[in-house]
Amino acid sequence: MAAPLPLAPQGEDPTFAELLAGRPHLSLHPAEGLRVEEVPLARIAQAVGTPAWVYSAGALRSRARALKAALSAAGLDAGIHYAVKANANLAVLRVLAEEGLGADVVSEGELRAARRSGIPASAIVFSGVGKTERELRLALAEDILQINLESAEEAERLSALAASLGRVARVALRVNPDVDARTHAKITTGRSENKFGVALAEAPALYARLAALPGLRPVGVAVHIGSQITAGVSAFRDAYAALARLVGALRAAGLPVERVDCGGGLGIPYRDETPPPPEALAGAIRATLGGLGLPVMLEPGRWIAGPAGVLLASVILQKQGAPPVPAGGPRRRFLVVDAAMNELMRPAMYEAWHGILPVAPAAHAAPLSPADVVGPVCETGDTFARGRALPAMEPGDLVAFLDAGAYGATMSSTYNLRPLAPEVLVDGARFAVVRDRQPHEALFAGQRLPPWIGAPAPGGVS
Ligand code: LLP
Repeated sequence: MAAPLPLAPQGEDPTFAELLAGRPHLSLHPAEGLRVEEVPLARIAQAVGTPAWVYSAGALRSRARALKAALSAAGLDAGIHYAVKANANLAVLRVLAEEGLGADVVSEGELRAARRSGIPASAIVFSGVGKTERELRLALAEDILQINLESAEEAERLSALAASLGRVARVALRVNPDVDARTHAKITTGRSENKFGVALAEAPALYARLAALPGLRPVGVAVHIGSQITAGVSAFRDAYAALARLVGALRAAGLPVERVDCGGGLGIPYRDETPPPPEALAGAIRATLGGLGLPVMLEPGRWIAGPAGVLLASVILQKQGAPPVPAGGPRRRFLVVDAAMNELMRPAMYEAWHGILPVAPAAHAAPLSPADVVGPVCETGDTFARGRALPAMEPGDLVAFLDAGAYGATMSSTYNLRPLAPEVLVDGARFAVVRDRQPHEALFAGQRLPPWIGAPAPGGVS
């Protein structure tokens, strides 16, 4: 074999042992290999096949509790409204509902998922820049805790609708504080050029307008500046300080403010990031908003669900790349796995780095060489990792993509007509399939030929 490629980028990737050390619900059993809590991933692969999402109920609970503890240690009266978009599996939502978390939803589907999971309407916030009339009707019918308005236009629409239904919507005004969250451009939401919220300068007049409109009761202000925020708490602090000044101005104008919604965004370490701990976020909230004497709300998604899940996949084959041009140098080693960008889209969409751990115990002590880990989808973007240090792997060997509990399954598609992967919840030594693998038949459900196009002759696979 040709000389191995240098590990790229050299030396920055955490080792397998470091990845495990930072994720207490994962461990390496000397005989059974990689486990989630007490369940070997190999057993799950045997039961449901691959690819499959595997979530740790224990991790979900301990993260929810850690966040609550950090907020209450800071003396905050805080409600946590989990951002359902991160992971909307009903079993996951149920675990979080049992922990007393509310929900932040952005669609009818998410609102229904939250309600089905037993999250009371009185703990649900509806966010988003474009809520349809149908969604607003449902939110009003359910009498949810709060609808976060993102524009004057939306306020007028909701007012007319609520008034026509004889209802009063509790609304918060989402402001765009124009702060840089220093995260990926595609998930930055608090800059003035972004589509979200209303300009800070225009917020007082609009809030006064909300108070005057029929069918609306303004209850507070909201902000969400972006996601996967890892560069300290200064951006949070700037945004919350702006909210505090706004609340001061609103109060001075005699307008009622009952609470402040701090949004989500707290990042997690995927590779070598050192995001602020929840205690630091709680400290930033206290320092900026604590003096107002108001309850606060948080809308975390990733921080709760991300580290709690893995995407389990099998190696289909290992192929050698073409001889490099100009000649010389090593060929690339491609590990083709049975998961793809249609399952975990984050690497293709945001150049995101996810840890990849072999499941077999021996693979953790084997020599490493660089590999490009790719899926079978017909796009070069269907690449999970380039030049990743991994052992030799055979067809059928299992790998786990780490930190796939948030924005994994919820962003999946059936691209290349690949059925949606099953979801499994581990809880201690037990596990259960909480979503079946989509049958191929479901890929065709609801489709029909127009009457003027002849049906194919029966026979063969369908
Ligand atoms: N609240 C609002 C209004 C949001 O828009 C979001 C996320 C959250 C809360 C939750 O943010 P978190 O705590 O999870 O950062 N697909 C991307 C992330 C998109 C986030 C969209 N909004 C990714 O995979 O990185």
